[in-house]
Amino acid sequence: MTASIGSLMGTTAAPRTAQCETHGAFESVNFIGRIWSKCPACATDLAAKEKAEQDAREHAGRKAAWEQRLGESCIPERFTDRTLNKFVASTPEQAHALAFATAYADGFAEVLKTGRCAMFVGKPGTGKTHLAAGIALRLMRRDGRPVLFTTVMRAIRSVKDTWGGNGGKTETQAIAALVYPDLLILDEVGVQFGSDTEKLILFDVLNERYEKRRPTLLLSNLDVEEVEAYLGERIFDRMREDGGEAVPFEWESYRGKAHA
Ligand SMILES: Nc1ncnc2c1ncn2[C@@H]1O[C@H](COP(=O)(O)OP(=O)(O)OP(=O)(O)O)[C@@H](O)[C@H]1O
Ligand SMILES: [Mg+2]
Ligand SMILES: [Zn+2]
Repeated sequence: MTASIGSLMGTTAAPRTAQCETHGAFESVNFIGRIWSKCPACATDLAAKEKAEQDAREHAGRKAAWEQRLGESCIPERFTDRTLNKFVASTPEQAHALAFATAYADGFAEVLKTGRCAMFVGKPGTGKTHLAAGIALRLMRRDGRPVLFTTVMRAIRSVKDTWGGNGGKTETQAIAALVYPDLLILDEVGVQFGSDTEKLILFDVLNERYEKRRPTLLLSNLDVEEVEAYLGERIFDRMREDGGEAVPFEWESYRGKAHA
């Protein structure tokens, strides 16, 4: 006599009421043999918990990636929250500067096609660094683009520091780090006395960016003529190509106003 599969595995019984310690009574269905369905509310709870844990992991991952990107950008701590949205434009000139910065960031795909540079020039405390940081933050946050913020002094030092040859980076690597980012922001143009060596380093970096059509944003307290004299005609001319514009920042300093 042969046994049927049903008798070997047990037959399917009618649903019955079962008790969950957490959720109380529920209808349990018999799948087969001694296998009954478990509390559906417990299953929902577990799925929600796993989803929340997964979300938290993803959030932490994104946060870590953002902090790494922000760190690599070298935007000074003070300016890491200076978004374009936080720039208050109360005069037409300020509105023009903000509109320029916004258009530069939002049209950056076009900017990259030519490598169009820009210059923010004018008085201290007028928001040049703020707007430059705002552009950088938007490019990094929205497009995930690599941006590097530095001062002329630091950029030159990063190259000079390789000259001792004490292991570490080579000069080529130091220059590559300044050429690699989609946008290089060079703050404090003209603060350092421009020795011939320094000019040569700056020319190397800006010319290589120019050749690769990678834009540079220059910030300076000098006026346009003085920037030209500081950088030298050859660099300045490259900055101007493809519609490179100088945006004037000629209003009173914002510093000190925050407390008023
Ligand atoms: N229009 C503005 N709206 C909001 N905050 C502003 C505005 N202008 C400047 N600030 C704030 O004022 C401070 C000084 O601005 P910032 O450092 O950008 O000036 P700057 O033009 O770069 O000056 P400097 O030439 O001395 O470097 C910053 O904290 C900046 O966020
Ligand atoms: Mg500044
Ligand atoms: Zn349950």
